[in-house]
Amino acid sequence: MKLWGGRFTKEENQLVHNFNESLSFDQKFYRQDIEGSIAHVTMLAKQGIVSEEDREAILGGLRGILADLDSGKLTFTKEHEDIHSFVEANLIQRIGEAGKRLHTGRSRNDQVALDMKLYCRDEIGEIDALVKALLEALLEIMENNLDTYMPGFTHLQKAQPVTLAHHIGAYFEMFFRDRSRLHDMKKRMNTCPLGAGALAGTTYPLDREYSSALLGFDGPTQNSMDSVSDRDYLIELMSALSMIAMHLSRFSEEIIIWNSNEYRFVELDDAYSTGSSIMPQKKNPDIAELVRGKTGRVYGALISLLTTMKGLPLAYNKDMQEDKELSFDAIDTVKGCLALFTGMISTTTFRKDVMESSAKSGFTNATDAADYLVSHGVPFRDAHTIVGQLVLLCLDKGIALDDLSLEEFRAVSPVFGEDIYEAISMETCVKRRITTGAPGQDAMKQAIQVYKRRLADGSGD
Ligand code: ARG
Repeated sequence: MKLWGGRFTKEENQLVHNFNESLSFDQKFYRQDIEGSIAHVTMLAKQGIVSEEDREAILGGLRGILADLDSGKLTFTKEHEDIHSFVEANLIQRIGEAGKRLHTGRSRNDQVALDMKLYCRDEIGEIDALVKALLEALLEIMENNLDTYMPGFTHLQKAQPVTLAHHIGAYFEMFFRDRSRLHDMKKRMNTCPLGAGALAGTTYPLDREYSSALLGFDGPTQNSMDSVSDRDYLIELMSALSMIAMHLSRFSEEIIIWNSNEYRFVELDDAYSTGSSIMPQKKNPDIAELVRGKTGRVYGALISLLTTMKGLPLAYNKDMQEDKELSFDAIDTVKGCLALFTGMISTTTFRKDVMESSAKSGFTNATDAADYLVSHGVPFRDAHTIVGQLVLLCLDKGIALDDLSLEEFRAVSPVFGEDIYEAISMETCVKRRITTGAPGQDAMKQAIQVYKRRLADGSGD
């Protein structure tokens, strides 16, 4: 009984350890954990809370751990509960007594709050650079396609002619807002929780302003209970990532449609498509499909974190450890999607001829034909009916409005003259759309100047 009982207890303890541990995933921010400890001990020594000798020993030990983890000389071992315990135990092993003083005036609660913020801040920098690279790729496509005519759609039905530059410009706007959101949240999250302790600060005379400045924050957090239990910034980040994923997914969906046999607007580079194991003719847009598909797990991280937080009383609760795995996954997923999508879109061939003939064959110039009548004094409602009759006639004959003879035009309305052909040509339809934000070349050139300035001044705002 005893033997069995002992064995059972041991096994259960192991299960508890496995369930409770976070080292298997929070090792991801070992750099930030050590960076935080370096700032903490520097501040402790400045305040006379630890001696200068101990500070030097601790700094040496921490830098050694960092170098050994970076080089792979030191590896993570399962017996430690989390990255904080791992680093501290390793430090004590390396430098002895002095190592035991590092955790003075600190709790793992403010430590993990700090580590996660530092990690997110670094990752936001990387995501921002990836969004910027995508914006640059889009801008290049825009500059090369001011005269590439294509149908603009509503309800996925051909509506009015636009240009590829204009269509891509819509995505530029979306990803620009994404960038601005990242910048915006980075400003809001940039306060330092270190020194909040477990929840109620500490009795040591910590200089929180000093450690905050050492770590590049705008200042210390103002309420210690909020400091250790705030995960709003992470929810904002998951929300910003969800929005990026949603934009990438919409764009991917369009690429998938444009790549279909029916559309053939684009030719994907071989490097970004795959074949079928059974159908030799297939070239599938797998990368675009995967980017679209991965959106679900990014949304999952957002919803999961919101749900984890919704019932938590102040201050720290272990539930918060659940903030890590899914958000790490969402961050890595979005970074991967951005990099792959940028590679795919910048190697895609846009088939200008197919796009233009598609715009011509879909009555996208019907509104312009009606506008022509209006400019000749016909009330818009009557013009709408007249052009509707012409569209019916064309559908019957299987031709475009441009293919009707002048007699056919005039049979429906004598207002039509020879200049109707010029008025409804793709070139005219687009060129005359001159208002700010419209597809006309002049308006687009202005937009491109604005976009260039936005990219050059480095801000997302
Ligand atoms: N691994 C923990 C987390 O991620 C660190 C904080 C532990 N604090 C505690 N009071 N058990 O939340």
